[in-house]
Amino acid sequence: MRKRLIVSAAAGALALLLTVPASAAQIGPGAAGIGDPYYPNAGNGGYDVSHYDIRLKYQPATDELEGTATILATATQDLSRFNLDFVLGVKEVLVNGRTAKFASTGESELEITPARPLTKGSPVTVVVRYADKPGEVERGGYSAWLRTPDGGVAANEPEGSAWWFPSNDHPTDKATYDVSVLVPDGTQAISNGLLTGQSSRAGWTRYNWRQTKPQATYLATLAIGRFDIRTDTTPGGLPVVTAYSKDLGDNDGAARASVERTGELVDWLSGYFGEYPFGSIGGYVPNVPTGYALETQTQIFYSPAQFSRGSNTSVVVHELAHQWYGDSVSVQRWSDIWLNEGFARYSQWLWSEHENEGTAQELADYVYSSYPADNAFWSVKPGDPGADHQFASAVYDRGAVAIQALRNTVGDEKFFQILKGWPAERKYGNATIQQFQAYAERISGKPLADLFNTWLFTASKPALSSAGVPAAAPAGVAALAPGGKGAPQEPKSWKKIQETNSLHEHAH
Ligand code: TRP
Ligand code: ZN
Repeated sequence: MRKRLIVSAAAGALALLLTVPASAAQIGPGAAGIGDPYYPNAGNGGYDVSHYDIRLKYQPATDELEGTATILATATQDLSRFNLDFVLGVKEVLVNGRTAKFASTGESELEITPARPLTKGSPVTVVVRYADKPGEVERGGYSAWLRTPDGGVAANEPEGSAWWFPSNDHPTDKATYDVSVLVPDGTQAISNGLLTGQSSRAGWTRYNWRQTKPQATYLATLAIGRFDIRTDTTPGGLPVVTAYSKDLGDNDGAARASVERTGELVDWLSGYFGEYPFGSIGGYVPNVPTGYALETQTQIFYSPAQFSRGSNTSVVVHELAHQWYGDSVSVQRWSDIWLNEGFARYSQWLWSEHENEGTAQELADYVYSSYPADNAFWSVKPGDPGADHQFASAVYDRGAVAIQALRNTVGDEKFFQILKGWPAERKYGNATIQQFQAYAERISGKPLADLFNTWLFTASKPALSSAGVPAAAPAGVAALAPGGKGAPQEPKSWKKIQETNSLHEHAH
Protein backbone atom coordinates (compact mmCIF):
# COMPACT_ATOMS: atom_id res chain seq x y z
CA MET A 1 0.00 0.00 0.00
CA ARG A 2 2.86 2.37 0.83
CA LYS A 3 4.52 1.65 -2.49
CA ARG A 4 1.30 2.35 -4.37
CA LEU A 5 0.99 5.63 -2.53
CA ILE A 6 4.42 6.84 -3.64
CA VAL A 7 3.76 5.79 -7.22
CA SER A 8 0.40 7.55 -7.40
CA ALA A 9 1.79 10.68 -5.70
CA ALA A 10 4.53 10.85 -8.34
CA ALA A 11 2.02 10.31 -11.13
CA GLY A 12 -0.19 13.00 -9.60
CA ALA A 13 2.71 15.49 -9.50
CA LEU A 14 3.56 14.77 -13.13
CA ALA A 15 -0.04 15.23 -14.19
CA LEU A 16 -0.14 18.51 -12.30
CA LEU A 17 3.00 19.80 -14.10
CA LEU A 18 1.55 19.01 -17.50
CA THR A 19 -2.03 20.18 -17.08
CA VAL A 20 -2.17 22.69 -14.27
CA PRO A 21 -5.20 24.77 -15.30
CA ALA A 22 -7.52 21.89 -16.32
CA SER A 23 -6.88 19.57 -13.35
CA ALA A 24 -6.91 22.41 -10.81
CA ALA A 25 -10.36 23.38 -12.03
CA GLN A 26 -11.69 19.82 -11.67
CA ILE A 27 -10.58 19.17 -8.09
CA GLY A 28 -13.40 19.99 -5.73
CA PRO A 29 -14.83 19.04 -2.33
CA GLY A 30 -16.64 15.77 -1.64
CA ALA A 31 -20.38 16.04 -0.93
CA ALA A 32 -21.55 16.35 2.69
CA GLY A 33 -24.14 13.60 2.11
CA ILE A 34 -24.13 10.37 0.13
CA GLY A 35 -27.50 11.19 -1.49
CA ASP A 36 -30.10 9.43 0.70
CA PRO A 37 -33.41 11.33 0.37
CA TYR A 38 -34.47 10.53 3.98
CA TYR A 39 -31.20 11.75 5.52
CA PRO A 40 -29.47 14.25 3.19
CA ASN A 41 -26.40 14.57 5.46
CA ALA A 42 -25.89 10.85 6.13
CA GLY A 43 -22.67 9.50 4.64
CA ASN A 44 -20.44 11.56 2.40
CA GLY A 45 -19.31 11.74 -1.20
CA GLY A 46 -15.92 11.21 -2.83
CA TYR A 47 -14.40 8.20 -1.09
CA ASP A 48 -15.02 4.62 -0.06
CA VAL A 49 -13.89 3.15 3.29
CA SER A 50 -12.45 -0.37 3.51
CA HIS A 51 -11.40 -0.53 7.18
CA TYR A 52 -11.87 1.23 10.53
CA ASP A 53 -9.26 0.81 13.26
CA ILE A 54 -10.70 2.36 16.43
CA ARG A 55 -8.58 2.64 19.59
CA LEU A 56 -10.42 3.96 22.62
CA LYS A 57 -9.91 4.69 26.30
CA TYR A 58 -13.01 5.14 28.46
CA GLN A 59 -13.50 6.10 32.08
CA PRO A 60 -17.02 5.08 33.25
CA ALA A 61 -16.89 7.29 36.34
CA THR A 62 -16.60 10.49 34.30
CA ASP A 63 -17.81 9.48 30.79
CA GLU A 64 -14.46 10.58 29.35
CA LEU A 65 -13.76 8.97 25.96
CA GLU A 66 -10.44 9.36 24.17
CA GLY A 67 -9.98 7.89 20.73
CA THR A 68 -7.78 7.45 17.70
CA ALA A 69 -9.57 6.28 14.57
CA THR A 70 -7.50 5.18 11.58
CA ILE A 71 -9.60 4.99 8.43
CA LEU A 72 -8.43 3.24 5.26
CA ALA A 73 -10.25 4.53 2.19
CA THR A 74 -9.97 5.06 -1.55
CA ALA A 75 -10.77 8.37 -3.21
CA THR A 76 -13.53 7.90 -5.80
CA GLN A 77 -12.97 11.38 -7.26
CA ASP A 78 -10.28 14.05 -7.08
CA LEU A 79 -10.76 15.75 -3.71
CA SER A 80 -9.70 19.12 -2.36
CA ARG A 81 -11.51 18.27 0.88
CA PHE A 82 -13.93 15.64 2.21
CA ASN A 83 -16.23 15.02 5.18
CA LEU A 84 -16.64 12.42 7.90
CA ASP A 85 -19.79 12.13 10.03
CA PHE A 86 -18.89 12.84 13.65
CA VAL A 87 -20.20 14.82 16.63
CA LEU A 88 -17.37 14.54 19.21
CA GLY A 89 -14.59 17.06 19.79
CA VAL A 90 -11.57 16.54 17.52
CA LYS A 91 -7.98 17.32 18.51
CA GLU A 92 -5.97 16.42 15.41
CA VAL A 93 -6.41 15.00 11.90
CA LEU A 94 -3.73 13.49 9.66
CA VAL A 95 -4.27 12.55 6.01
CA ASN A 96 -1.63 10.28 4.49
CA GLY A 97 0.66 11.17 7.39
CA ARG A 98 0.37 14.95 7.01
CA THR A 99 -1.44 17.28 9.38
CA ALA A 100 -4.76 18.31 7.84
CA LYS A 101 -7.03 21.27 8.53
CA PHE A 102 -10.42 20.38 9.99
CA ALA A 103 -13.65 22.01 11.12
CA SER A 104 -16.80 20.65 12.78
CA THR A 105 -19.70 22.01 10.75
CA GLY A 106 -23.44 21.55 10.61
CA GLU A 107 -25.10 18.95 12.83
CA SER A 108 -22.56 16.17 12.53
CA GLU A 109 -20.02 16.90 9.81
CA LEU A 110 -16.25 16.87 10.25
CA GLU A 111 -14.82 18.73 7.26
CA ILE A 112 -11.22 17.79 6.44
CA THR A 113 -8.87 19.67 4.12
CA PRO A 114 -5.74 17.61 3.43
CA ALA A 115 -2.39 19.32 2.89
CA ARG A 116 -2.35 17.87 -0.62
CA PRO A 117 -5.43 17.18 -2.75
CA LEU A 118 -6.38 13.53 -3.19
CA THR A 119 -6.41 11.87 -6.59
CA LYS A 120 -9.23 9.68 -7.83
CA GLY A 121 -8.44 6.01 -7.25
CA SER A 122 -5.65 6.58 -4.74
CA PRO A 123 -5.57 5.02 -1.26
CA VAL A 124 -6.11 7.41 1.64
CA THR A 125 -5.21 6.95 5.31
CA VAL A 126 -7.02 9.26 7.71
CA VAL A 127 -6.14 9.45 11.41
CA VAL A 128 -8.54 11.32 13.72
CA ARG A 129 -7.64 11.94 17.37
CA TYR A 130 -10.52 12.96 19.62
CA ALA A 131 -11.68 13.34 23.21
CA ASP A 132 -15.10 14.13 24.63
CA LYS A 133 -17.89 13.11 27.01
CA PRO A 134 -20.27 11.47 24.49
CA GLY A 135 -23.24 11.41 26.88
CA GLU A 136 -23.13 15.20 27.02
CA VAL A 137 -22.97 15.76 23.26
CA GLU A 138 -26.52 16.33 22.04
CA ARG A 139 -28.12 16.92 18.68
CA GLY A 140 -31.74 18.01 18.79
CA GLY A 141 -31.74 17.44 22.56
CA TYR A 142 -30.59 13.89 22.22
CA SER A 143 -27.40 11.82 22.63
CA ALA A 144 -27.00 8.42 20.95
CA TRP A 145 -24.55 7.39 23.70
CA LEU A 146 -26.71 5.63 26.31
CA ARG A 147 -25.14 6.14 29.72
CA THR A 148 -25.49 3.29 32.23
CA PRO A 149 -24.53 3.26 35.93
CA ASP A 150 -21.39 1.28 34.97
CA GLY A 151 -20.50 2.73 31.55
CA GLY A 152 -22.41 3.26 28.34
CA VAL A 153 -23.72 1.80 25.09
CA ALA A 154 -23.67 2.87 21.44
CA ALA A 155 -26.44 1.06 19.54
CA ASN A 156 -28.65 3.18 17.34
CA GLU A 157 -30.35 3.22 13.97
CA PRO A 158 -30.20 4.85 11.50
CA GLU A 159 -27.45 7.02 12.96
CA GLY A 160 -25.42 6.49 16.13
CA SER A 161 -21.81 5.81 15.24
CA ALA A 162 -21.04 9.57 15.20
CA TRP A 163 -21.06 9.42 19.02
CA TRP A 164 -18.06 7.10 19.16
CA PHE A 165 -16.12 7.13 15.88
CA PRO A 166 -15.85 9.27 12.72
CA SER A 167 -17.18 7.50 9.64
CA ASN A 168 -18.87 7.52 6.27
CA ASP A 169 -22.16 6.90 8.03
CA HIS A 170 -24.37 5.18 5.48
CA PRO A 171 -25.17 1.46 4.88
CA THR A 172 -23.81 1.60 1.32
CA ASP A 173 -20.21 2.04 2.56
CA LYS A 174 -19.39 -1.18 4.42
CA ALA A 175 -15.99 -1.93 5.94
CA THR A 176 -14.14 -4.28 8.30
CA TYR A 177 -13.37 -3.23 11.88
CA ASP A 178 -10.80 -3.50 14.65
CA VAL A 179 -12.07 -2.02 17.90
CA SER A 180 -9.65 -1.87 20.84
CA VAL A 181 -10.90 -0.45 24.13
CA LEU A 182 -9.00 0.36 27.33
CA VAL A 183 -11.18 0.37 30.47
CA PRO A 184 -10.49 0.24 34.22
CA ASP A 185 -9.95 -3.29 35.63
CA GLY A 186 -13.27 -4.90 36.54
CA THR A 187 -15.04 -3.22 33.61
CA GLN A 188 -15.53 -5.01 30.27
CA ALA A 189 -15.79 -3.67 26.71
CA ILE A 190 -17.85 -5.33 23.97
CA SER A 191 -17.92 -4.74 20.24
CA ASN A 192 -18.65 -6.71 17.05
CA GLY A 193 -17.13 -9.99 15.96
CA LEU A 194 -14.64 -11.90 18.06
CA LEU A 195 -12.67 -10.96 21.15
CA THR A 196 -9.17 -11.58 19.82
CA GLY A 197 -7.21 -10.44 22.84
CA GLN A 198 -7.38 -9.07 26.35
CA SER A 199 -4.55 -7.74 28.50
CA SER A 200 -4.23 -5.92 31.83
CA ARG A 201 -1.62 -3.44 33.03
CA ALA A 202 -1.46 -0.84 35.77
CA GLY A 203 -5.14 -1.00 36.66
CA TRP A 204 -6.47 -0.91 33.08
CA THR A 205 -7.62 -3.74 30.79
CA ARG A 206 -7.61 -3.63 27.00
CA TYR A 207 -10.20 -5.55 24.95
CA ASN A 208 -9.54 -6.18 21.25
CA TRP A 209 -12.52 -6.98 19.02
CA ARG A 210 -12.37 -7.80 15.32
CA GLN A 211 -15.05 -7.90 12.60
CA THR A 212 -13.64 -9.44 9.42
CA LYS A 213 -16.81 -9.29 7.30
CA PRO A 214 -18.19 -6.12 5.66
CA GLN A 215 -20.26 -4.17 8.17
CA ALA A 216 -22.42 -1.05 7.88
CA THR A 217 -21.63 1.77 10.32
CA TYR A 218 -24.98 1.66 12.15
CA LEU A 219 -24.36 -2.03 12.85
CA ALA A 220 -21.13 -1.30 14.70
CA THR A 221 -21.66 -1.31 18.45
CA LEU A 222 -19.74 -0.49 21.62
CA ALA A 223 -20.76 -1.39 25.16
CA ILE A 224 -18.78 -0.69 28.31
CA GLY A 225 -19.80 -1.89 31.75
CA ARG A 226 -19.62 -4.75 34.24
CA PHE A 227 -20.38 -7.77 32.06
CA ASP A 228 -20.25 -11.53 32.33
CA ILE A 229 -18.88 -12.56 28.90
CA ARG A 230 -19.40 -16.15 27.71
CA THR A 231 -17.97 -17.91 24.66
CA ASP A 232 -19.21 -21.15 23.11
CA THR A 233 -19.57 -22.78 19.69
CA THR A 234 -22.61 -24.18 17.89
CA PRO A 235 -22.58 -27.88 16.92
CA GLY A 236 -21.65 -26.62 13.43
CA GLY A 237 -18.56 -24.83 14.81
CA LEU A 238 -19.79 -21.21 14.76
CA PRO A 239 -18.38 -19.18 17.69
CA VAL A 240 -21.09 -17.72 19.97
CA VAL A 241 -20.25 -14.77 22.24
CA THR A 242 -22.87 -13.61 24.74
CA ALA A 243 -22.62 -11.03 27.52
CA TYR A 244 -24.87 -10.01 30.39
CA SER A 245 -24.62 -7.00 32.63
CA LYS A 246 -23.87 -8.13 36.19
CA ASP A 247 -26.72 -5.86 37.31
CA LEU A 248 -29.74 -7.33 35.47
CA GLY A 249 -31.46 -8.16 38.76
CA ASP A 250 -34.82 -9.91 38.29
CA ASN A 251 -34.38 -10.04 34.49
CA ASP A 252 -31.10 -11.96 34.59
CA GLY A 253 -32.56 -15.48 34.34
CA ALA A 254 -35.05 -14.72 31.55
CA ALA A 255 -32.41 -12.79 29.58
CA ARG A 256 -29.99 -15.72 29.71
CA ALA A 257 -32.73 -18.29 29.01
CA SER A 258 -33.51 -16.37 25.80
CA VAL A 259 -30.12 -15.18 24.51
CA GLU A 260 -28.36 -18.46 25.36
CA ARG A 261 -30.55 -20.07 22.68
CA THR A 262 -28.83 -17.96 20.02
CA GLY A 263 -26.84 -20.85 18.52
CA GLU A 264 -29.88 -23.12 18.26
CA LEU A 265 -31.98 -20.34 16.70
CA VAL A 266 -29.28 -19.41 14.14
CA ASP A 267 -29.26 -23.03 13.03
CA TRP A 268 -33.06 -23.03 12.79
CA LEU A 269 -33.10 -19.82 10.74
CA SER A 270 -30.38 -21.16 8.42
CA GLY A 271 -32.97 -23.69 7.29
CA TYR A 272 -35.03 -20.80 5.85
CA PHE A 273 -32.38 -18.21 4.92
CA GLY A 274 -29.41 -20.37 3.93
CA GLU A 275 -25.88 -20.43 5.27
CA TYR A 276 -25.19 -17.95 8.08
CA PRO A 277 -23.12 -15.14 6.49
CA PHE A 278 -20.73 -14.13 9.30
CA GLY A 279 -17.88 -15.64 11.35
CA SER A 280 -19.53 -15.48 14.76
CA ILE A 281 -22.83 -14.67 16.46
CA GLY A 282 -23.96 -13.50 19.87
CA GLY A 283 -25.67 -10.78 21.83
CA TYR A 284 -25.38 -8.64 24.92
CA VAL A 285 -27.80 -7.30 27.52
CA PRO A 286 -26.52 -4.11 29.15
CA ASN A 287 -28.08 -2.34 32.10
CA VAL A 288 -30.09 0.17 30.05
CA PRO A 289 -33.63 1.52 30.61
CA THR A 290 -34.60 1.21 26.93
CA GLY A 291 -37.13 -1.32 25.59
CA TYR A 292 -35.80 -2.18 22.15
CA ALA A 293 -33.18 -4.39 20.52
CA LEU A 294 -30.87 -3.70 17.57
CA GLU A 295 -29.40 -6.15 15.06
CA THR A 296 -25.80 -4.94 15.60
CA GLN A 297 -23.75 -7.25 13.40
CA THR A 298 -22.88 -10.60 15.06
CA GLN A 299 -23.25 -8.97 18.50
CA ILE A 300 -26.90 -8.08 19.04
CA PHE A 301 -28.02 -5.39 21.48
CA TYR A 302 -30.97 -6.35 23.73
CA SER A 303 -32.72 -4.38 26.47
CA PRO A 304 -33.41 -5.99 29.89
CA ALA A 305 -37.06 -4.84 29.69
CA GLN A 306 -37.62 -7.26 26.80
CA PHE A 307 -37.15 -10.08 29.32
CA SER A 308 -39.20 -8.55 32.13
CA ARG A 309 -42.25 -10.70 31.34
CA GLY A 310 -40.20 -13.90 31.15
CA SER A 311 -38.12 -15.42 28.40
CA ASN A 312 -38.48 -14.03 24.88
CA THR A 313 -37.08 -16.17 22.07
CA SER A 314 -39.19 -14.21 19.58
CA VAL A 315 -37.02 -11.10 19.87
CA VAL A 316 -33.89 -13.23 19.48
CA VAL A 317 -35.31 -14.71 16.27
CA HIS A 318 -36.15 -11.20 14.98
CA GLU A 319 -32.63 -9.84 15.54
CA LEU A 320 -30.99 -13.00 14.21
CA ALA A 321 -33.10 -12.82 11.04
CA HIS A 322 -31.65 -9.33 10.50
CA GLN A 323 -28.16 -10.85 10.19
CA TRP A 324 -29.32 -12.06 6.74
CA TYR A 325 -32.01 -9.44 6.06
CA GLY A 326 -30.44 -6.10 6.99
CA ASP A 327 -26.84 -6.85 7.91
CA SER A 328 -25.48 -9.06 5.13
CA VAL A 329 -27.97 -7.65 2.61
CA SER A 330 -28.44 -4.00 3.58
CA VAL A 331 -30.73 -1.24 2.40
CA GLN A 332 -29.59 0.82 -0.58
CA ARG A 333 -31.51 3.81 0.77
CA TRP A 334 -33.23 4.10 4.14
CA SER A 335 -36.60 4.07 2.36
CA ASP A 336 -35.92 0.35 1.65
CA ILE A 337 -36.36 -0.43 5.37
CA TRP A 338 -39.12 -2.99 4.61
CA LEU A 339 -36.36 -5.31 3.33
CA ASN A 340 -35.12 -5.36 6.94
CA GLU A 341 -38.15 -5.09 9.19
CA GLY A 342 -40.76 -6.89 7.08
CA PHE A 343 -38.60 -10.02 6.90
CA ALA A 344 -37.40 -9.88 10.51
CA ARG A 345 -41.04 -9.67 11.61
CA TYR A 346 -42.03 -12.47 9.23
CA SER A 347 -39.33 -14.69 10.77
CA GLN A 348 -41.12 -14.24 14.12
CA TRP A 349 -44.30 -15.47 12.44
CA LEU A 350 -42.43 -18.55 11.20
CA TRP A 351 -41.15 -19.12 14.75
CA SER A 352 -44.68 -18.71 16.12
CA GLU A 353 -45.86 -21.34 13.64
CA HIS A 354 -43.01 -23.65 14.71
CA GLU A 355 -43.95 -23.18 18.38
CA ASN A 356 -47.65 -23.81 17.71
CA GLU A 357 -48.57 -20.33 18.86
CA GLY A 358 -50.28 -19.21 15.66
CA THR A 359 -49.49 -19.69 11.97
CA ALA A 360 -48.15 -16.94 9.71
CA GLN A 361 -51.55 -16.87 7.98
CA GLU A 362 -53.35 -16.50 11.30
CA LEU A 363 -51.04 -13.63 12.26
CA ALA A 364 -51.62 -11.99 8.87
CA ASP A 365 -55.39 -12.35 9.31
CA TYR A 366 -55.13 -10.85 12.75
CA VAL A 367 -53.19 -7.79 11.56
CA TYR A 368 -55.62 -7.33 8.67
CA SER A 369 -58.71 -7.49 10.86
CA SER A 370 -57.28 -5.51 13.81
CA TYR A 371 -57.10 -2.20 11.96
CA PRO A 372 -60.26 -0.80 10.35
CA ALA A 373 -59.78 0.94 6.99
CA ASP A 374 -59.85 4.41 8.58
CA ASN A 375 -57.05 3.58 11.05
CA ALA A 376 -53.84 5.61 10.61
CA PHE A 377 -51.99 2.27 10.47
CA TRP A 378 -52.90 1.96 6.77
CA SER A 379 -51.69 5.45 5.90
CA VAL A 380 -48.03 4.43 6.24
CA LYS A 381 -46.59 2.91 3.07
CA PRO A 382 -44.16 0.16 4.22
CA GLY A 383 -42.23 0.55 0.94
CA ASP A 384 -41.70 4.28 1.46
CA PRO A 385 -42.76 5.19 5.00
CA GLY A 386 -40.92 8.52 5.23
CA ALA A 387 -38.10 9.26 7.70
CA ASP A 388 -40.61 10.06 10.47
CA HIS A 389 -42.32 6.66 10.16
CA GLN A 390 -39.31 4.55 9.27
CA PHE A 391 -39.94 2.23 12.21
CA ALA A 392 -43.72 2.55 12.41
CA SER A 393 -45.57 -0.68 13.22
CA ALA A 394 -46.95 -0.71 9.65
CA VAL A 395 -43.41 -1.31 8.33
CA TYR A 396 -43.26 -4.42 10.54
CA ASP A 397 -46.81 -5.77 10.61
CA ARG A 398 -48.29 -4.66 7.29
CA GLY A 399 -44.80 -5.39 5.91
CA ALA A 400 -45.08 -9.00 7.10
CA VAL A 401 -48.65 -9.31 5.73
CA ALA A 402 -47.16 -8.26 2.38
CA ILE A 403 -44.74 -11.18 2.64
CA GLN A 404 -47.62 -13.57 3.46
CA ALA A 405 -49.48 -12.21 0.42
CA LEU A 406 -46.37 -12.93 -1.69
CA ARG A 407 -46.29 -16.47 -0.26
CA ASN A 408 -49.95 -17.02 -1.12
CA THR A 409 -49.41 -15.68 -4.62
CA VAL A 410 -46.29 -17.64 -5.64
CA GLY A 411 -46.91 -20.77 -3.54
CA ASP A 412 -44.79 -22.27 -0.77
CA GLU A 413 -42.15 -23.88 -2.96
CA LYS A 414 -41.22 -20.70 -4.87
CA PHE A 415 -41.68 -18.58 -1.75
CA PHE A 416 -39.15 -20.51 0.34
CA GLN A 417 -36.80 -20.58 -2.65
CA ILE A 418 -36.95 -16.76 -2.77
CA LEU A 419 -36.52 -16.45 1.02
CA LYS A 420 -33.33 -18.53 0.87
CA GLY A 421 -32.00 -17.36 -2.48
CA TRP A 422 -32.13 -13.61 -1.93
CA PRO A 423 -29.53 -13.43 0.91
CA ALA A 424 -27.12 -15.49 -1.23
CA GLU A 425 -27.80 -13.38 -4.32
CA ARG A 426 -26.94 -10.12 -2.51
CA LYS A 427 -24.50 -11.33 0.17
CA TYR A 428 -22.56 -8.44 1.86
CA GLY A 429 -24.18 -5.94 -0.51
CA ASN A 430 -27.04 -3.46 -0.71
CA ALA A 431 -30.38 -3.68 -2.46
CA THR A 432 -33.63 -1.87 -3.19
CA ILE A 433 -37.20 -3.14 -2.87
CA GLN A 434 -37.45 -2.89 -6.68
CA GLN A 435 -34.50 -5.29 -7.00
CA PHE A 436 -36.17 -7.70 -4.58
CA GLN A 437 -39.39 -7.56 -6.60
CA ALA A 438 -37.47 -8.29 -9.80
CA TYR A 439 -35.77 -11.25 -8.10
CA ALA A 440 -39.10 -12.63 -6.83
CA GLU A 441 -40.56 -12.26 -10.33
CA ARG A 442 -37.60 -14.09 -11.85
CA ILE A 443 -37.81 -17.01 -9.41
CA SER A 444 -41.60 -17.31 -9.43
CA GLY A 445 -42.12 -16.48 -13.09
CA LYS A 446 -45.07 -14.25 -12.08
CA PRO A 447 -45.59 -10.52 -12.55
CA LEU A 448 -45.73 -9.02 -9.05
CA ALA A 449 -46.02 -5.27 -9.65
CA ASP A 450 -49.67 -5.15 -8.52
CA LEU A 451 -48.94 -7.10 -5.36
CA PHE A 452 -45.99 -4.88 -4.37
CA ASN A 453 -47.85 -1.69 -5.21
CA THR A 454 -50.92 -2.73 -3.22
CA TRP A 455 -49.12 -3.92 -0.09
CA LEU A 456 -46.08 -1.68 0.06
CA PHE A 457 -46.78 1.51 -1.88
CA THR A 458 -50.45 2.35 -1.26
CA ALA A 459 -51.54 4.51 1.68
CA SER A 460 -54.83 2.69 2.27
CA LYS A 461 -56.14 -0.71 3.40
CA PRO A 462 -55.79 -3.26 0.58
CA ALA A 463 -58.83 -5.30 -0.48
CA LEU A 464 -59.02 -8.89 0.74
CA SER A 465 -58.76 -10.18 -2.81
CA SER A 466 -55.21 -8.83 -3.00
CA ALA A 467 -53.93 -11.11 -0.22
CA GLY A 468 -53.36 -13.92 -2.66
CA VAL A 469 -55.82 -16.25 -0.95
CA PRO A 470 -58.49 -17.84 -3.15
CA ALA A 471 -61.91 -16.67 -1.96
CA ALA A 472 -62.97 -20.29 -1.52
CA ALA A 473 -60.12 -21.15 0.86
CA PRO A 474 -61.42 -22.42 4.19
CA ALA A 475 -58.89 -20.52 6.29
CA GLY A 476 -56.80 -17.41 5.99
CA VAL A 477 -57.75 -13.88 5.10
CA ALA A 478 -60.65 -15.36 3.18
CA ALA A 479 -62.24 -16.13 6.54
CA LEU A 480 -63.04 -12.44 6.74
CA ALA A 481 -64.82 -12.37 3.43
CA PRO A 482 -68.63 -12.17 3.43
CA GLY A 483 -69.87 -15.47 4.85
CA GLY A 484 -66.50 -16.18 6.52
CA LYS A 485 -65.90 -17.17 10.11
CA GLY A 486 -65.70 -13.60 11.42
CA ALA A 487 -62.90 -11.77 13.20
CA PRO A 488 -59.96 -14.02 14.07
CA GLN A 489 -58.80 -14.54 17.65
CA GLU A 490 -55.57 -13.02 18.89
CA PRO A 491 -52.81 -15.59 18.21
CA LYS A 492 -50.95 -16.80 21.29
CA SER A 493 -47.66 -15.29 20.08
CA TRP A 494 -49.12 -11.85 19.30
CA LYS A 495 -48.17 -9.94 22.46
CA LYS A 496 -44.62 -11.34 22.59
CA ILE A 497 -44.08 -10.41 18.97
CA GLN A 498 -45.26 -6.86 19.59
CA GLU A 499 -42.80 -6.51 22.50
CA THR A 500 -39.94 -6.54 19.97
CA ASN A 501 -40.76 -3.10 18.66
CA SER A 502 -43.12 -1.60 21.22
CA LEU A 503 -40.78 1.34 21.77
CA HIS A 504 -39.55 1.81 18.22
CA GLU A 505 -41.40 4.97 17.46
CA HIS A 506 -39.71 6.66 20.42
CA ALA A 507 -36.23 5.56 19.34
CA HIS A 508 -34.24 7.74 17.02
N1 TRP B 1 -33.98 -2.29 13.92
C1 TRP B 1 -34.47 -2.37 15.29
C2 TRP B 1 -35.27 -3.68 15.36
O1 TRP B 1 -36.18 -3.85 14.60
C3 TRP B 1 -35.33 -1.24 15.71
C4 TRP B 1 -34.72 0.11 15.89
C5 TRP B 1 -34.94 1.20 15.12
C6 TRP B 1 -33.83 0.54 16.91
N2 TRP B 1 -34.24 2.27 15.57
C7 TRP B 1 -33.55 1.89 16.66
C8 TRP B 1 -33.23 -0.09 17.98
C9 TRP B 1 -32.69 2.62 17.47
C10 TRP B 1 -32.35 0.63 18.77
C11 TRP B 1 -32.10 1.97 18.54
O2 TRP B 1 -34.99 -4.54 16.11
ZN1 ZN C 1 -36.02 -5.25 13.31
